Amino acid sequence: MMMKVLVAFATKHGATAEVAEEIAQTIRGEGHDVDVADLGRGTMDDVDSYDLAVVGSGIIAGNWIKGARRFIEKRSGELRRVRTAFFIVGSEPYFEPERREELLAKYITGPVSEQGLTPSSTAVFGGVFDFSKYGRVVTAILTKMGVKKVLSDAGFDVSGPCDLRDWDRIRDWASSLV
Ligand SMILES: Cc1cc2nc3c(=O)[nH]c(=O)nc-3n(C[C@H](O)[C@H](O)[C@H](O)COP(=O)(O)O)c2cc1C
Repeated sequence: MMMKVLVAFATKHGATAEVAEEIAQTIRGEGHDVDVADLGRGTMDDVDSYDLAVVGSGIIAGNWIKGARRFIEKRSGELRRVRTAFFIVGSEPYFEPERREELLAKYITGPVSEQGLTPSSTAVFGGVFDFSKYGRVVTAILTKMGVKKVLSDAGFDVSGPCDLRDWDRIRDWASSLV
């Protein structure tokens, strides 16, 4: 049966938007009707009119991006009536895959259960670092934190985007939802 699916995301630098778009395309490819919503832009009607809501956020400084945080806080009542799935996009899942369970608890199970939500599925994905996009302060902080070095040591060219996303994993997860 064709499902009506919402893929809602919050992004700071764009990587999560592209992950959300790929999830949406994959689910569309399975014959479902998918809306994609950028939670940083405006409001949304009728969250509970969907059969499935997939919600994703980038992780910046140990937190969800504001639009996604606000969305699950403000719309928790409606989200509780819908089947939900959550994903996060960050560097920790890529560099510390052995912490995946811990990251899942910290970044997904914890925050969503606080809103009374029980996800049907969860996923943590690698994101993107792109020093050409950051201002001086962010670059300085990330350099001081050793991010540039970790990326260089892992073989990335830090003068351009360092893309930690595993598109096969992302597509596999999206397919598993429908
Ligand atoms: C200033 C800054 C802080 C970050 N802090 C974290 C963090 O605490 N944990 C993490 O896993 N990733 C962190 N990252 C990596 C981001 O999650 C990654 O760049 C992701 O692609 C961000 O999503 P977006 O591109 O959709 O905004 C950070 C990135 C930046 C630029």
